[in-house]
Amino acid sequence: MKNYHKIITEIYSDLKNVNDIGKVANYIPELANVSDSNFGVHITTIDRNSFGIGDSDKKFSIQSISKILTLTLAYQLEGEKLWKRVDVEPSGNPFNSLLQLEADLGIPRNPFINAGAIVVCDILISHLQHPKEDFLAFCKEISNNPHLKYDEKVAQSEKSSGYRNIALCNFIKSFGNIKNDIDIVLDFYFYTCALEMTCKEVSEIFLFLADDHFITQKGKRVLTMSQAKRINAILLTCGFYDESGEFAFRVGLPGKSGVGGGIIAIHPDEFCITVWSPKLNKKGNSYKGMLFLEQFTTATESSIF
Ligand code: DON
Repeated sequence: MKNYHKIITEIYSDLKNVNDIGKVANYIPELANVSDSNFGVHITTIDRNSFGIGDSDKKFSIQSISKILTLTLAYQLEGEKLWKRVDVEPSGNPFNSLLQLEADLGIPRNPFINAGAIVVCDILISHLQHPKEDFLAFCKEISNNPHLKYDEKVAQSEKSSGYRNIALCNFIKSFGNIKNDIDIVLDFYFYTCALEMTCKEVSEIFLFLADDHFITQKGKRVLTMSQAKRINAILLTCGFYDESGEFAFRVGLPGKSGVGGGIIAIHPDEFCITVWSPKLNKKGNSYKGMLFLEQFTTATESSIF
């Protein structure tokens, strides 16, 4: 596996004790209980070489990283009709903003902001008999990983403090772009955000976006090549909210962050790499995670550009 192992080890030890100016998310109370010194990295290449360092085998709350998984299942089930309900433009606004929805008549700018992911959850509820169970089964199937589960405490914590998401869901429903009961949609959305995984598990579950020939254990493709291209394109332009330009500029890979401090970055035809460090910058993205990935793609000369 190229010289990834050596470079990751060097950058990891350089950054381990760097002055981290980020802050752990506390608007979801349960997330504030996680030690802010956690720091893990894991890379999985498309030929299934794998290397992890630090806290790469500890479970963390993947939060908005799950928005890629809900989008993928909705895209499988709904096809191109999906894009009538959610757009593919960068929002240039914070992940939980209500601002643009009024002018955009309840059509979220993209599926990776909270508004978009809530609409995607609504679409899934219209298709799935048992949304939480069926979505988890989908995640297990595409990762060939039977150990995935929701963190109940995080789901309940978010449910009891999710005022902005409740507002978003109601507001979108007023435009007719939520079809199901808002309590059911929000409950499902909170659970999807509460999926817990290790860095290793995250870097494995997204291989279908890096490997054009990826098939599941059951011999099925997850998405067509064209669909995978589209998801990577939206990740590049929208995966980091109002910091998407900055991430593309510094790292040069499609990727997605979560307020649990995880970041997945995907190099099509090469690898998936996950970094977890819970302290977030002002835009809600892991401070050390971005720093690590910037140094990694620079040292390995492995961005998409
Ligand atoms: O809905 C929320 O606010 C969280 N469950 C997810 C937000 C998130 O991860 C944004 N990421 N950087």
